[in-house]
Amino acid sequence: MTATSPAAPVSDIDVFSPEVLADPYPAYRSLRDAGPVVQLSAHPAWAITRYADVRAALADWQSFSSASAVALDDMMNANLRGTVLASDPPEHDVLRNVLSQQLAPRALAKLRGEISERADALVAEAVARESFDAVTELCERLPVDVVADLIGLPAEGRGVLLPGADAVFAGFGPMGPGFAERMPTLLGYFEYMQSFDSRDKLVPDSWGAAIWDAVDDGRIAAESAVPLMTAFLSAGMDTTVHGMSAYVRFLAEDPELWAALKADPHLLAGGFEEALRLESPVQGFFRLTTRDVDVDGVLIPADTRVLLSFGSANRDERHYPDPDRFDIRRNPVDHLAFGYATHGCAGQGLARIEAQALIGALLRRVDRIELSGAPVQHENTIARGLEHLPVSVVPAS
Ligand code: HEM
Repeated sequence: MTATSPAAPVSDIDVFSPEVLADPYPAYRSLRDAGPVVQLSAHPAWAITRYADVRAALADWQSFSSASAVALDDMMNANLRGTVLASDPPEHDVLRNVLSQQLAPRALAKLRGEISERADALVAEAVARESFDAVTELCERLPVDVVADLIGLPAEGRGVLLPGADAVFAGFGPMGPGFAERMPTLLGYFEYMQSFDSRDKLVPDSWGAAIWDAVDDGRIAAESAVPLMTAFLSAGMDTTVHGMSAYVRFLAEDPELWAALKADPHLLAGGFEEALRLESPVQGFFRLTTRDVDVDGVLIPADTRVLLSFGSANRDERHYPDPDRFDIRRNPVDHLAFGYATHGCAGQGLARIEAQALIGALLRRVDRIELSGAPVQHENTIARGLEHLPVSVVPAS
């Protein structure tokens, strides 16, 4: 440690304890106030929790490596080795580029119509019942089919996908009981994905087929194909479900918010960004320092595992005024819920299309929405979201 770099404070806050996971925001505030970098005594990791520092670390992959380093646990990191999420450039860029055409705004724009139709049908079905669980009966139903169809998976067998992706997220945190319980689910999910080890099992012209094209023309190795498909599936379902559910909850809890959105539907898109800012579906990922790094005057030694807390950064009062308030007009386009820079979410355009389609349909088909029971939080160390959200609605007259 150099004379100019004070030691990072040590905190005994356990960001993965059930109490903190239930409501992590007071703990995040304490960590932010403790310093730009904090050593977590409950885990073999340090944490960066302020907006500017998280963003700077995300932009500096040379110092904060993702290669075999995005999870807390070494075994999980070994399993993730060589995947798009857990690699650095140039290896990362090769994998990331495989679907860059499919994810470009022009290609995504072509999906908008069909996704809107699907979303509208789901909303119509739910609204007709006037009382429903907005997580299980609405938000969960769109992303699984959208992403699985894009990858080109057959219609049968998709039941493993959502629980499988949830288990993957739990694997990025500590290997506690929550992960042990999910192990059989995780293995079943990987076994299911492994069955798509050749092009003929996938729908032609799908994202999955494009991945096999990359194998055929030598851009990526054959053993990277299934992990790449798995990365898109795992990253693209729960996350979107959690983000949309959070948005519905904010709207159902506050009649004035709903009225504001009804009066000006242009606020819809910015409202989704605000929901993601406040309830970031991915609360954080890890990195490993490749060298001594100075973060706002505090030194992190080389070879230190560091949690980059998106959930905390997005509520940093140093960056967002009144950060705990849902402000439908804030439009926080610079939030870090999709990460940033090298590993910034590859599917954010798709997530936005899905959310705008679903919440947009709700807005058209519903005059009033309110909670009809207590929301139930889903427990996962990394992915934050709801398990249940009972709502009742008054259909649009
Ligand atoms: C609201 C929904 C979503 C949220 C909050 C979200 C969040 C994130 C975050 C935080 C990262 C950065 C990881 C890092 O820095 O290490 C990421 C990466 C990624 N996301 Fe998303 N995501 C969402 C939806 C999607 C969708 C719909 C897809 C695709 C179908 C997707 C595919 C990916 C992929 C492939 C990566 C890895 C990118 C890379 O390593 O270069 N995500 N996402």
